[in-house]
Amino acid sequence: MKRYKICVIEGDGIGKEVIPETVRVLENLGDFQFIKGYAGYQCFKRYGDPIPEETIETARECDAILFGAVTTPKPHELEGKRYRSPIITLRRELDLYANIRPISNFKDIDFVIIRENTEDLYVGREYYNPHTQEAVAERVISKRGCYRIVRFAFEYALEHHRRKVSCVHKANVLRVTDGLFLKTFYEVSEHYKRYNIEADDYLVDTTALYIVKNPQLFDVIVTTNLFGDILSDEASGLIGGLGLAPSANIGDRYGLFEPVHGSAPDIAGKGIANPLASILSGAMMLQYLGMERESRILRMAVKSVVEKGYTTPDLGGNLKTREVTDKVIEEVKRYLEVMP
Ligand code: NAI
Ligand code: MG
Repeated sequence: MKRYKICVIEGDGIGKEVIPETVRVLENLGDFQFIKGYAGYQCFKRYGDPIPEETIETARECDAILFGAVTTPKPHELEGKRYRSPIITLRRELDLYANIRPISNFKDIDFVIIRENTEDLYVGREYYNPHTQEAVAERVISKRGCYRIVRFAFEYALEHHRRKVSCVHKANVLRVTDGLFLKTFYEVSEHYKRYNIEADDYLVDTTALYIVKNPQLFDVIVTTNLFGDILSDEASGLIGGLGLAPSANIGDRYGLFEPVHGSAPDIAGKGIANPLASILSGAMMLQYLGMERESRILRMAVKSVVEKGYTTPDLGGNLKTREVTDKVIEEVKRYLEVMP
């Protein structure tokens, strides 16, 4: 089996707790070379840069990136120095245009939100016109941006044996921007009919309701940046919060895998952070690297640990971060023996 190089960026707070535990699990599943990269607020305090150039270089040289979480400093903590967000910098530098959030509780809820990661209102073109006293934000949606995220969503559906892709939009009001997104969606969907992947679409407000009322409606959702940001946080509420929410940021050349949660300063250092979101992000990484069997085994191991109630306090258990990881490793070893 190929030896993969993994860039490991722990970051701040509980990132430093859950990422080493994830590495410990992964060591049981393959032959990896883990290379540390530094980023975050602590890194900024030490080196004057929240994401040094060397970290970005290391990320480029690796097969995949595992990222914990970073603390965003408050403006008064910066003493006038400039601070750039490490994760936004990496998304831009590595052109990670697809953000993937699987939403699963290992029981009745199982869908995926694929969010465009580079355009929309997040291009940050905002201005204030003092004459009209209007504040304006530009919403940028390009044909290329639509095409690549929609194609990505259908390819993802194919690869993960999903049956339907739903486009989520507000094209009834945002006729030009979301109109382009929706039109591109149905153009691309034609190509996937031969694989029996269904295509449909929903308005974003209706989707917000259905996610709560009838999440079984969804399989793969593809949407624009802002809507995806909001809906994916809403959806993680369905599965009991952040402790079980993994994510991936993927482009044509690079993949970065991270738990959805932040650095959780309120529990950092107590040894009670739930490592499962990070470990599940590791499972997404294995799938990305083509280690399908190992990825499946890891997800099954997490599932049994949750079912048996071996969890940290956020999921109602009383185990420590390290103890939950030990349980996951036990299950991984068991599945490695019994599964072909
Ligand atoms: P957070 O996700 O760090 O924490 C929110 C709540 O969930 C806290 O009560 C925390 O204890 C709990 N929580 C989060 N992850 C947990 C885990 N694995 N196990 C058990 N409990 C967990 O969000 P918050 O508090 O808004 O932000 C804290 C810092 O993290 C801020 O500086 C924020 O900017 C940063 N942040 C970084 C992100 C990233 O690096 N991608 C994402 C979100 C926030
Ligand atoms: Mg968010």
